Amino acid sequence: MRIDPTAIPVRDMYRMLIGVITPRPIAWVSTVSPRGIPNLAPFSFFNGVAANPPTVVFSPVNRRDGSKKDTILNIEQTPEFVVNVVSYDLARPMNDSSAELPYEESEFDACGLTPLPSEKVKPPRVKEAKVHMECVLHQIVNVGEGPLAANLVIGRIVLMHVDEAVLGADGLPDPFKLDTIGRMGGEGYARTRELFELPRPGGKR
Ligand SMILES: Cc1cc2nc3c(=O)[nH]c(=O)nc-3n(C[C@H](O)[C@H](O)[C@H](O)COP(=O)(O)O)c2cc1C
Repeated sequence: MRIDPTAIPVRDMYRMLIGVITPRPIAWVSTVSPRGIPNLAPFSFFNGVAANPPTVVFSPVNRRDGSKKDTILNIEQTPEFVVNVVSYDLARPMNDSSAELPYEESEFDACGLTPLPSEKVKPPRVKEAKVHMECVLHQIVNVGEGPLAANLVIGRIVLMHVDEAVLGADGLPDPFKLDTIGRMGGEGYARTRELFELPRPGGKR
């Protein structure tokens, strides 16, 4: 099968993309409106891209009608956000928080989640999550236009909170305790408990 992205509908290209770029980590992103009302939504076009300074990216794409999602509207006006990490026990409320609620209707309330004040940014953290990354906006890069075009958010982590209960004896996150989930194609998710190790060529870094 050969796919020319210019020859198929955008929606089909999207389905193919999310079916092959798997598993994707999930940023559960909190933001605030100018009036201070919190918003929460998951994004799996997400990753970390640098450690100096510690930098993450995620991409709220435009809705099918071409409009911008609440998360990007909020970040454009208050350039701060929190990435909350999603453990398996939070899969359901995370998924629930992807509902398209009207602007300024908080997913915290709708999904029974507890907003916990952040220290360096305005958006609150999700108290139930075991890791929070408080971020300030570095840049928004628009890629394309219209439905499903990207508003790529590049953010710098200014404070990270890690629940000590998920740390191993070496002081680093223990994947079995953190129990993160990943996003697959369609409505699928993956767990991260089948692990293996390979030594890096040239020894440990
Ligand atoms: C696991 C998961 C991952 C998602 N990843 C993305 C994504 O990377 N980009 C995106 O635009 N929407 C993504 N969505 C859909 C958004 O969460 C959804 O459109 C949400 O309503 C946006 O909220 P907002 O308008 O409050 O920003 C994802 C949904 C789920 C359940």
